[in-house]
Amino acid sequence: MWGSRIGLILAMAGNAVGLGNFLRFPRQAVLGGGGSFMVAYFVALLLIGIPLMWIEWGVGRHAGRFRKGHVPGMFAALWHHPAAKYLGVIGLVIPLAVFIYYTYIESWTLAYTFFSVTHDYWGRATQAEMVSYLQSFQGFGAEHVHGAWTPFLFFALTLFVNVYVVSKGISGGIERLAKVGMPVLFLFAIVLAVVVATLPAGPGGETAATGLQYIYEPDLSRLGDANVWLAAAGQIFFTLSVGMGTLQAYASYLSRKDDIVLSGLATASTNEAVEVVLGGTIAIPAAVVFFGVSGAVAVAQSGSFNLGFATMPVIFQQMPFGGLLGFMWFGLLFFAGITSSVAMATPILAFFREEFGMQRERVAWTLGGVAFGLGLLHVLWLEYGFLDEWDYWMGTFGLVLFAVVEVILFMWVLGPSRAWASLHEGADVRIPAFFKTVMTVVTPLYLIVILVWWGVTDALPILRLEVAAGGGAVAPEAVPYILLSRGLLVLMLLVFLWLIHLAWKRNGYADRSGFVDFDEETAAEVAA
Ligand code: ALA
Repeated sequence: MWGSRIGLILAMAGNAVGLGNFLRFPRQAVLGGGGSFMVAYFVALLLIGIPLMWIEWGVGRHAGRFRKGHVPGMFAALWHHPAAKYLGVIGLVIPLAVFIYYTYIESWTLAYTFFSVTHDYWGRATQAEMVSYLQSFQGFGAEHVHGAWTPFLFFALTLFVNVYVVSKGISGGIERLAKVGMPVLFLFAIVLAVVVATLPAGPGGETAATGLQYIYEPDLSRLGDANVWLAAAGQIFFTLSVGMGTLQAYASYLSRKDDIVLSGLATASTNEAVEVVLGGTIAIPAAVVFFGVSGAVAVAQSGSFNLGFATMPVIFQQMPFGGLLGFMWFGLLFFAGITSSVAMATPILAFFREEFGMQRERVAWTLGGVAFGLGLLHVLWLEYGFLDEWDYWMGTFGLVLFAVVEVILFMWVLGPSRAWASLHEGADVRIPAFFKTVMTVVTPLYLIVILVWWGVTDALPILRLEVAAGGGAVAPEAVPYILLSRGLLVLMLLVFLWLIHLAWKRNGYADRSGFVDFDEETAAEVAA
């Protein structure tokens, strides 16, 4: 159980606030044309982000009554049908897969925190030189700046810290991490945002205001482009951590007396403030001051991580206290990352503890071992798009698929009235009534449209190897790695399906009658 409400909110906000807020958002906003992207972004926030946030808290807490903190159990608690638990497999494969590649990227931020303090990249004055440095760290490109073992070491270290935290449990590990990590993150982000906002005009006369204007000035010119809408919806999913199984896992540790309406809204609002205000004020305006709007757009187009790992270090080197600023930037990314990755491990731990009676420490360290083993493939084959495949199928497309199933089960199978009543148990405030219609009709429709549209325009060409999951053409030499990457995901899916089958058999669950309601059982005991 959670130790305190503030601890819960910080942990939930930590779950949502992640690398997505500071690295993914600025890039997506620039690529989507700034103001146009933001219009689509806020529509998606209102019609799918916030409704899903409530639904996921509701799904999780509902399952908590049956002591289920993992998605197969959550789906089975909503729908008394043999298929429900198997549908829940997506809620195990997604957080596991994302945990593995996400902690790997998180390990870069740890490494760069260190490289900033030691001024390791100092002297590389251009973005091209910094890109070369990044590639060398990632294990490809012409340069070999560090020993080949360096990325493996930082990956192992990052996994170690993650596993250590989750092995200490919800209040003893995750909540304590959030209580330290989130304030540090806020502090670093605010300092950096102020520093960037007060930068003197750059060589082309641009100031931070030019960058902010680019993002925030409403612009309707690209709203006819479906890709802008899809990218905005994808960002909402990733940044809020909806469709991952993690918010539900955290919410399963709440009781019916706890409020979830206000807390869910507080989580979404905190994430949005961090993303739009802080995330929006750091990387893009800084890049615009130093390289102009067209320069910033070019960097964003040149690669997913170039804005954060190439442009920002070039800028820090030109500023007073650059080493400290670099430390703050990568340190804040590390804290943002780790408070999200520990959440991804939570549903996996819940599954093995609840269904197979395993000790928390044992599951946590085993997970660490498996993640390291599979993560090594990402480290080794990053340049072949191995990671991009997982990021697309699990971290982008998979989230929407998961959400569609979940919304249907909660709002339709449980039913709008029961779902609405369940959300309001213990609530401090009521959700405005029109959201009931939004959540029952608009959200599922919006999601299905995105899923189909995305399926046709994006997923099929990627599946057929016509386009690379990370963008651009598929290099012929990358094909075996891409197929291997997908094969592994399929294998994980099959293994989890088998484990779910075993778990249900082992525990003698009857699909049609549902689980024991611990709340009702306790009430009956008290009455007796
Ligand atoms: N919500 C997390 C992020 O933004 C996963 O990175």
